[in-house]
Amino acid sequence: MKQMYNLILACLLVVLLSACGKQVGSDSSADKVSEQYEQTESAETTEQAEQEPQGGDHTVTGDISFNFETKTVLLNSGYEMPIHGIGTYSLTGDTCTASVTAALNSGVRLIDTAYMYHNEESVGEAVRNSGIPREEIFVITKLYPNQFDHAEAAIEEALTKLDIEYIDMMLLHHPGTGDVEAYLAMEKAVADGKIRSLGLSNWYVEELEEFLPQINITPALVQNEIHPYYQENDVIPYIHSLGIVVQGWYPLGGRGYTAELLGNEVISEIAAAHGKSSAQVILRWNLQKGVVVIPGSSNPDHIQENTELFDFELTEEEMERIDALDRGEKHDWY
Ligand SMILES: NC(=O)c1ccc[n+]([C@@H]2O[C@H](COP(=O)([O-])OP(=O)(O)OC[C@H]3O[C@@H](n4cnc5c(N)ncnc54)[C@H](OP(=O)(O)O)[C@@H]3O)[C@@H](O)[C@H]2O)c1
Repeated sequence: MKQMYNLILACLLVVLLSACGKQVGSDSSADKVSEQYEQTESAETTEQAEQEPQGGDHTVTGDISFNFETKTVLLNSGYEMPIHGIGTYSLTGDTCTASVTAALNSGVRLIDTAYMYHNEESVGEAVRNSGIPREEIFVITKLYPNQFDHAEAAIEEALTKLDIEYIDMMLLHHPGTGDVEAYLAMEKAVADGKIRSLGLSNWYVEELEEFLPQINITPALVQNEIHPYYQENDVIPYIHSLGIVVQGWYPLGGRGYTAELLGNEVISEIAAAHGKSSAQVILRWNLQKGVVVIPGSSNPDHIQENTELFDFELTEEEMERIDALDRGEKHDWY
């Protein structure tokens, strides 16, 4: 009887133990399933990331404050860019080459061009003939909306016209049909080593909010109209908050408007107090607001003058006086 009892007890123990073993086994296989699921999911995520934009991570990653010693800013792409340069809108042919050459001789290392300025060849010629190491010069060019539907070929065209090995930065000139696809083509050119940094031009808060979730590489820079009569004081802090550098076009108001702006009483008064020109005061005001300047000029004296921005500083009160000149007055239609 006792033997029988022991046998039943032993059987019960075995059943109990095997039940426990199954439980452990089922737990571990559940772990394996979830691991496999995670692996499949992450594999899909990687695949998707390669195939289609996932909105990227547009959180701020670095400090984009200007270094007034080196006269540069560190872009979110990891490249350093000068904070003052020359713009080449409306400069073509020999005038463009001579202006860019004068700028390079004056120590300017940032040049802004565009497909639409019809001068990429002239800019490239000045860069190649300068004798300055390529790495020390930063060239920005832009794709125009009529190129967005064949962006890959348009990038090749810019590389050929500039003929300077690579493009430091390429911008989309304006929002337009196919801009996301064009930007993705620029992202591919970054991966291929043809372009180093990307950016946008004429993108404001709403446009950025809509655009950014559709792309992977956060733009390093946004180039918009900014001068004392059109200050974008609501847009600049928003762009900065994304870790994106702001660059101003028409810093002196643009051709046809410069005389009035440079003759402004407040600006002239501040200029006289510092022994500087009105142009230098406006450019310095931009820099102190964290806005990169690219004044356009074909006059070597003006080009030189526009580089002498680092031997004086505007006081807080002077900055506020210029801030108060804002009229929300655009000098172009876009
Ligand atoms: N992304 C866009 O949509 C867009 C649009 C417009 C412009 N941009 C870019 O922004 C750059 C700047 O704009 P911008 O060149 O049209 O206009 P700007 O820089 O505001 O003004 C250029 C005018 O200012 C004069 N100037 C330059 N320096 C001067 C100085 N120190 N004293 C007196 N006058 C001076 C120039 O004449 P002199 O030749 O006689 O010096 C020229 O007439 C363009 O060249 C282009 O690269 C971009």
